[in-house]
Amino acid sequence: MKKILEQIGEVVSNAFVTCGYEAGYGRVTISNRPDLCEYQCNGAMAAAKAYKKAPIAIATEVVDSLKDNDLFEEIVAIAPGFINIKISKDFLCDYLNKMVNEDKFGLEMPENPLTIMVDYGGANVAKPLHVGHLRPAIIGESVKRICKYVGHNVIGDAHLGDWGLPMGQVIEETKDRQPNLPYFNPDFKGEYPTEAPFTISELEEIYPAASAKCKVDEAFKARAHEATFKLQNYDPAYTALWKHIMNVSKADLKKNYDSLQVFFDLWKGESDAQPYIEDMINDMIAKGVAYESQGALVVDIAEPTDKKELPPCIVRKSDGAYLYETTDLATIIERVKLYNPDQEIYVVDKRQDLHFIQVFRAARKAGLVSPEHKLDFLGFGTMNGKDGKPFKTRDGGVLRLEALVKDINEAVYNRIIENREVDEAEARENAKIIGLAALKYGDLSNQASKDYVFDVDRFTSFEGNTGPYILYTIVRIKSILNKYVENGGDLESVKTIGAAESVLSDSEKGLMLQITRLNEMLENAYEEIAPHKVCQYCYELSDAFNKFYHETKIIAEEDKTRQAGWIELLKLTKNILLTCIDLLGFEAPERM
Ligand code: ARG
Repeated sequence: MKKILEQIGEVVSNAFVTCGYEAGYGRVTISNRPDLCEYQCNGAMAAAKAYKKAPIAIATEVVDSLKDNDLFEEIVAIAPGFINIKISKDFLCDYLNKMVNEDKFGLEMPENPLTIMVDYGGANVAKPLHVGHLRPAIIGESVKRICKYVGHNVIGDAHLGDWGLPMGQVIEETKDRQPNLPYFNPDFKGEYPTEAPFTISELEEIYPAASAKCKVDEAFKARAHEATFKLQNYDPAYTALWKHIMNVSKADLKKNYDSLQVFFDLWKGESDAQPYIEDMINDMIAKGVAYESQGALVVDIAEPTDKKELPPCIVRKSDGAYLYETTDLATIIERVKLYNPDQEIYVVDKRQDLHFIQVFRAARKAGLVSPEHKLDFLGFGTMNGKDGKPFKTRDGGVLRLEALVKDINEAVYNRIIENREVDEAEARENAKIIGLAALKYGDLSNQASKDYVFDVDRFTSFEGNTGPYILYTIVRIKSILNKYVENGGDLESVKTIGAAESVLSDSEKGLMLQITRLNEMLENAYEEIAPHKVCQYCYELSDAFNKFYHETKIIAEEDKTRQAGWIELLKLTKNILLTCIDLLGFEAPERM
């Protein structure tokens, strides 16, 4: 169904046409003076110039022609030429009742759904997840859910870092610790063991040890490079060992991502790009796109309109090694071949900005993607501590994601037992659900590209623009609905919003108007790849609801038609909030 702004805009545009002006002047927006009106049209000002007439004269003509239209409660021309609009109860309630009955609250689905790949998470195999992995997981998951909800085919890919030097480092460190393993015996001819030679906790200890060794031990470093090279050329022994690294590490990553409610459709990685690299490089050379420069193979990506000079994209180093740019380019080839996406969205730290400019431009130059294939980089900012510096542990170390989640759950738990009578088990369970909401909302409510301060106290507060506040609102609605049922009411029977004769109170209308903005907001959130718009909407809707709730005695209402309409309005509000938090990637508890 058409969005409410479109519906109002159409009527006003038609009025402009009736009065002899172009339809385009009838564009209607949400009022920026909510104290005066709900919607406004400023078209008469622009029309005044084109038609050489006073703007107020045009506005008055248009308003006069709409006086009897029952869409409006009030439509007035205001000097110097604004048209201020309040919509009628009938029109508003009719719109809401349609939202109740239509699939997805009447959101129009795209005629031609796109295939969109969201590249997010970007964890590195053999390393534990740390706070730096929080944002790509949280933002990416939400972006994926938003794209899906508005009607596209979406594929989320974890794009693991599983193919670089860390792999060679782990292999060589394993060799130093367990030299007798068959992977290191060149004469070994049998089947390699199916059992991994390390557990996840050992693996997590092996990698940092190896990486530290590389910094001080040149010989070890050379061996790690050599091992990486052998792996990338599919040495059977190292491939067998690498598969163990992958299995052990992926199982652990999956467990961690699951607990964050982050679910990938694909668990591919940089290694999947390897089979495409050689042909890609040869093709780039043949096309004259890549050329040798100081021994390396590079692609020029600078464009005349660049404000600063951009270095070429290196696709092969002088020692023959491939780089991060190379695997990202080859990954694009694989994705086109296997999934043929119309759009790819990369959710990665904004400090990788240059990398993605280079990759995207090189991909276009080499013809890896069609001109219509969209490549979007959603670069996110840093999560800082209260000191304004990147978030660290108390002793200055890198904070593991698990530890951070535990901290926030603990903070929520303490709040819950402070003022609630729920039992221990429920408090623990709720702390997890609310903690995740606090964490995700705290992150997503900021525009992704901005840095933000991680503030446990603020994020876990039940008041203000926080996840727990949204959940609290949902739980409040649930409890009113339960009361209604306890008093003999039936939630399932058909009810009509606004069926009673009574006029709408300000807070009631405020809530209704906020609900009608949902579909507009969702389209914007998708188009601008902006989950923070979903947060902002949730916050405004919760505020509008709570205002209504404080001013309205719902359960005690004697006019049953009026009460039934409110119950339907509450159900709608609750369902919308639940949909929105699902798009943000968290859930609501039954009680709080
Ligand atoms: N693993 C990378 C890192 O830790 C992030 C990967 C992002 N995705 C991509 N296609 N480059 O920095």
